[in-house]
Amino acid sequence: MTARTITTARLLLRPPAHQDAQAIYDGYARDHDVARYVLWTPHRSITDTHAFLDHFICDEQDERSFPWVMIRDADGVLIGAMHLRVEPPRADFGFNIARPYWNQGYGTESVRGVIAFAFSIPGVERVQAVCHVDNGASARTMEKAGMVCEGRLRRYMRFPNIGDEAQDVFLYAVTRTEHSPLGG
Ligand SMILES: CC(C)(COP(=O)(O)OP(=O)(O)OC[C@H]1O[C@@H](n2cnc3c(N)ncnc32)[C@H](O)[C@@H]1OP(=O)(O)O)[C@@H](O)C(=O)NCCC(=O)NCCS
Repeated sequence: MTARTITTARLLLRPPAHQDAQAIYDGYARDHDVARYVLWTPHRSITDTHAFLDHFICDEQDERSFPWVMIRDADGVLIGAMHLRVEPPRADFGFNIARPYWNQGYGTESVRGVIAFAFSIPGVERVQAVCHVDNGASARTMEKAGMVCEGRLRRYMRFPNIGDEAQDVFLYAVTRTEHSPLGG
C-alpha cells in the first residue's frame, strides 16, 4: 500500500479528517477569493465543510485518489489542501492555500512534493493540472514547480464561481523523464 503522507521542507501533507473541519472552514473554505478558480463553491457553514469532507476523505486502500491537508511544521497550522487523482499513465492534481499564506512558496513546495509522490507510483508517466487562464498565481506556481504549459484548452470547463459559460484553461504537465532525466 502507498504511504499516504508527504513531507517537504516546511510542510506535512497528510490525509484529511473530520476533525479538520473547523480549520478548513475558518482557514479558506468560506473565502470567495480562494474559491474563485476552483471547482467547489464557498462553504456557508461548517455543515458544508463536513459534507465536503465526506467526499474528500477517501478509503485509504484507494490507490487512485489521494487527498491531503497541508500542515505547517512550525506551528501545526492547516494552511491548505491538495488532491491527486491517479489514472496511469496520468496523475492530475488540484490545490488551494489559505490567503494569509499565499506568496510564501508553500504552493510551489507542495506541488513539488506531490509530483515526486506521483512519480513514486509505478505506471505514472505524467503529472498534470489545468488552471483558468486568468489564474496567474496557479500558473506561476506550477511553472516554478517545474511543470510546462502545453497549451490553452479553449472553452474546456465551467467554474461554478465564475458563471455558466465554459472557460479557457491552461494545461500544465511534467513527465517522468523531465522530472528525473534518467527515467527513474
Ligand atoms: C495557487 C495557489 C495555491 C498558489 O499558492 P502559493 O503558496 O501562493 O504559491 P507560491 O508562493 O509557491 O507561488 C506563487 C507565485 O505566483 C505569483 N503570483 C501571485 N499572484 C499572481 C498573479 N495574479 N499573477 C501572476 N503571478 C502571481 C507569486 O508572485 C509567486 O511567484 P514568484 O515566487 O515568482 O513571485 C494560491 O494562490 C491559491 O490557493 N489560490 C486559490 C486557489 C486556486 O486558485 N488554486 C489553484 C486552482 S488550479
